[in-house]
Amino acid sequence: MGLSTAALLSNAGYKVYLLDINHVRLDVIKEGRSFFYEKGIDPLLEEAVEKKVLIPTDSYESSVPNSSIVFSCVGTPDNPDGSSNLNYVFSSAEQASKFMRPGSIFVQKSTVPVGTGAVIEKQFAKTGKKLEYVSNPEFLREGTAITDSLWFDRVVVGGSEKLACQRVINLYKQIEKKQENIAAIAGLKHDHDGGKYFTTNRNSAELIKVTANAFLALKISFANSIAKLADHTGADVVEVMDAVGADKRIGRAFLSAGRGYGGGCFPKDVSGLICSASEHGVDLQIMTAASDLNETMPGYIANKAQEVLGGLKKKKVTVLGLSFKEGTSDARRSPGVKLANILAKNGAIVSTYDPQANSEASQDLRKGIKIHHDLRDSLEDAQAVFITTEWPEFFKLNPSEYNNLMAGNVFVDSVNGFDMKTINDAGLKYVGVGRG
Ligand code: UGA
Repeated sequence: MGLSTAALLSNAGYKVYLLDINHVRLDVIKEGRSFFYEKGIDPLLEEAVEKKVLIPTDSYESSVPNSSIVFSCVGTPDNPDGSSNLNYVFSSAEQASKFMRPGSIFVQKSTVPVGTGAVIEKQFAKTGKKLEYVSNPEFLREGTAITDSLWFDRVVVGGSEKLACQRVINLYKQIEKKQENIAAIAGLKHDHDGGKYFTTNRNSAELIKVTANAFLALKISFANSIAKLADHTGADVVEVMDAVGADKRIGRAFLSAGRGYGGGCFPKDVSGLICSASEHGVDLQIMTAASDLNETMPGYIANKAQEVLGGLKKKKVTVLGLSFKEGTSDARRSPGVKLANILAKNGAIVSTYDPQANSEASQDLRKGIKIHHDLRDSLEDAQAVFITTEWPEFFKLNPSEYNNLMAGNVFVDSVNGFDMKTINDAGLKYVGVGRG
């Protein structure tokens, strides 16, 4: 999020200091590229670093005093009890406040529990300087970060000072003005128009962010609950959700059943929201249920597969997809990794492949799981294949080629992305999630 924001602002005409304490990352950025895979970001970084409008640095002292607006884009991981760990949020705010010029604006983009801004404002008051605090949550998705930012649905800016909020909105308007130029550099196509600006109070802005993520997670878990019922009744959850989602009041997005949600956002934002609500005496049971259901999905799929395979012990299987979704190298809380580990724990001989996330996922995979660097190689001798992310490469391979390369014919489509009939017609045995 920080790197995308910096890439966009520096290509929209602003001079941007990119402050990070991680030297390995800074060294990569100094070469004008990203330290992770994200479509369109590298050309923007290259352009901005070359023109010296994007300045990577590890120094608060040489960057913050020169800036009229400071964006905080630090990580908010979860604590072991699921609550949000705000150590980076508070320490970076404190550090920045020491160097900020009076009248400058601190923009919180990190995902924080409602009430966090109030604590930081008190911290700022102690500096004796007039510093503005604005909450400006981010809604971009990994894999489509630049597209989501250029053609946004909404920009939310929350704070008590109208002028400070307006100055932040002006930055986004400037990006909007340069939209087509930036897209051309990034090699991205026009997406959709009609993005809205919302100016709210600080606490509302904080709550909007976590509420949006929680609701999307809820939709996925709801779809997965119905998928389980469909499995017992012969209904097809894809047909069900296509028709249900056609109702404009409901919408089709985020109703795709499968191996559940993962990544660096939904799992921790849901648990963070549950904990933050509970601190205020509110029991968000509905979110606890969504999170619990999500946890069951990889095991549910492994179980379905073992019924078809007649057990998992010594069965050679291949898991395709280790990132938490397509389009990113991020393997945090990846359902594909979870599934591979469950299969291995139950005695299967597991091979895996991912076009981008092999190295990130390697530390989380159980010992003995083999990582391949070629799709076809990974399928050799497999009795079953598990598709766990929708990388285009997996769809480009002809179903009959899957069948030729594999020793067996069990095709577990844990993203429900393939046409069931085409797979079965190729001599494979299709196993989906909630597809009857
Ligand atoms: C999510 C939100 O979508 C962004 O709006 C938000 O800014 C971001 O978190 C964040 O808080 O930083 P992201 O985690 O990048 O973005 O990915 P999503 O596209 O939302 O997918 C999350 C997970 O849900 C993935 O594992 C995906 O495969 C899964 N998913 C998504 C489903 O299982 N079914 C669906 O129908 C949709």
